[in-house]
Amino acid sequence: KFDIGDFKRELIREIRERVGDKQVVCGVSGGVDSTVLAVLLHEAGVNMRAIFVDNGLLRKNEADEVRANFARMGVKIETVDASERFLTALAGEGDPEKKRRIIGGLFIDVFWDAVGNAEMLAQGTLYPDVIESASNAKSKASVIKTHHNRVERVLELQAQGKVLEPLAELFKDEVRELGASMGIPHDILWRHPFPGPGLAVRCPGVVTRDRLDIIRECDAIFIGNLKKYGWYEKVWQAYAGLIPVKTVGVKGDERSYEWATNLRAIVSEDAMTADWVELPAALLRETSNRILNEVKGINRVLYDISTKPPASIEWE
Ligand code: XMP
Repeated sequence: KFDIGDFKRELIREIRERVGDKQVVCGVSGGVDSTVLAVLLHEAGVNMRAIFVDNGLLRKNEADEVRANFARMGVKIETVDASERFLTALAGEGDPEKKRRIIGGLFIDVFWDAVGNAEMLAQGTLYPDVIESASNAKSKASVIKTHHNRVERVLELQAQGKVLEPLAELFKDEVRELGASMGIPHDILWRHPFPGPGLAVRCPGVVTRDRLDIIRECDAIFIGNLKKYGWYEKVWQAYAGLIPVKTVGVKGDERSYEWATNLRAIVSEDAMTADWVELPAALLRETSNRILNEVKGINRVLYDISTKPPASIEWE
């Protein structure tokens, strides 16, 4: 019978054997896979550097939370604050694919600048990623959305046998089980997925600090309410995004002319298809009221009732 404890010990044995006294570098995002990876390397006791890039496209307080999470697990991480660089590079760009390419390219630059010379790289690739990358190579899916994993530099290291992917045989639920067996707190293991390009794909058109701040406020209220009402773990992914179109409203006794926010909450098996969630009206009402009262710049709240396909989960 499959035993996660045995599996973990075997993984750690393999990691020690492959790494020896070399230094392994890994990127951490705060997400489930990279967190489990970093904690696993930490437990294996190898010489590890975990690097967290703050791209300025994170959610409210996210960088602080990620740092605090690793601190409470006793794993040292290095933070690179590259917010300015990302926002500068994105300035004025409204095309979705160009935005993605800017973010993906800059991430690689910033990450490898921080790494310097890596002897080995560890990645939190899961079994479904392995399959997806294999099929992406043949289909046009990789053209539709350029994925940040498995980029050139990594392929180079891979060719030299210097890329470690200890989670590559696991499905998500097994990664969570492995994480739990190493004492990773429940809330970290059950975080929703978050896209590499961050809030930029929830901010159609140009990305500015003001727009990001509005998204952060709306999103924090929505996610907070999902947790408060016990819905956070019932949905696969949820967020608030920005619709940068101004419409007329009334705030106080004044006419307002402001943007709208879209709330999206979906269920999915694998993110390839998704269905929107019939959230309780009370949750939606409280979220809407709070956003309209508290977030400057928003006078309209919409709930996205689009399935995937044809809509994607993100707006870009
Ligand atoms: P879409 O919007 O394509 O999203 O329906 C499917 C899932 O993938 C996430 N996503 C990404 N994740 N890098 C990532 O690591 C990306 O570039 C990226 N784009 C989308 C999205 O949040 C959803 O979970």
